[in-house]
Amino acid sequence: MKIGIFDSGIGGLSVLNEAYHQLPEQEFMFYADTEHVPYGVKTPAQILDYAVEITEFLIDKGAEAIVVACNTATSVAIKELRRRYSLPIIGMEPAVKPAVEGTENRRIMVIATPVTIREDKLKDLLHRVDQGHRVDLLAMPRLVEFAEREEFESEAVKNYISGRFSAFDKNEYCALVLGCTHFNYFKSAYREYFGPDTLLIDGNHGTVKHLADVLGLHADDNISELTEEKHKILCLRNTKYFFSGRRIDGGEELQHLKRLHLRLEKMRNI
Ligand code: DGL
Repeated sequence: MKIGIFDSGIGGLSVLNEAYHQLPEQEFMFYADTEHVPYGVKTPAQILDYAVEITEFLIDKGAEAIVVACNTATSVAIKELRRRYSLPIIGMEPAVKPAVEGTENRRIMVIATPVTIREDKLKDLLHRVDQGHRVDLLAMPRLVEFAEREEFESEAVKNYISGRFSAFDKNEYCALVLGCTHFNYFKSAYREYFGPDTLLIDGNHGTVKHLADVLGLHADDNISELTEEKHKILCLRNTKYFFSGRRIDGGEELQHLKRLHLRLEKMRNI
């Protein structure tokens, strides 16, 4: 099947990367809206316009299903996209439910973009699943900028992370929920900050599993690492990449995407 995956930028690659593990036989189109990133500080009307334009682009190119690999765009646009288009549209939301259900008593931190934190979708989710009021929310918009610059390990990144968390007592947290797909690139930095016992929870595995279920596809529960060679094949054979509508099929931009896939592969089991 031809599956379209989109995000404001490179965050959604983490969902595509997970799909390489679970659905290696499928065909993908990955669309990063590099001209409009970041979405997390834009107005809902702007984000909805971008999401509609991208969905139409992907449908036009033959997508049979769409994954909105962006928590921000999902919180603003998913209802309207589903109203307008009849193909399966899979969204993403911060994985609060597994975090609450999989842990006991101690606090849970959800990091996301300002838009995701402000929108009703997350508030409704918390209302449903966080009856013990264990969840705290924290916006981390600059991580999106760092990720887009391919800056993952610098002092500036570490200082930003520790600065944002400094108002909280890290020893109280049993889980950190990554409520923005861009945040997957920084797992080593959260691990360094929180230590070995805090769970790092992202929504990627669940999203791809859900995609497979909706499409009636068999999901491989392939947790082993993909080799560099296998990645190359999947990137080149199974995927068409677009930056705001422009096809990326070679040169430095494709190298950049490959480096990001390898980074995500490394971050997968931290
Ligand atoms: N990757 C996006 C998300 O999952 C949004 C990042 C942004 O553009 O602000 O929320």
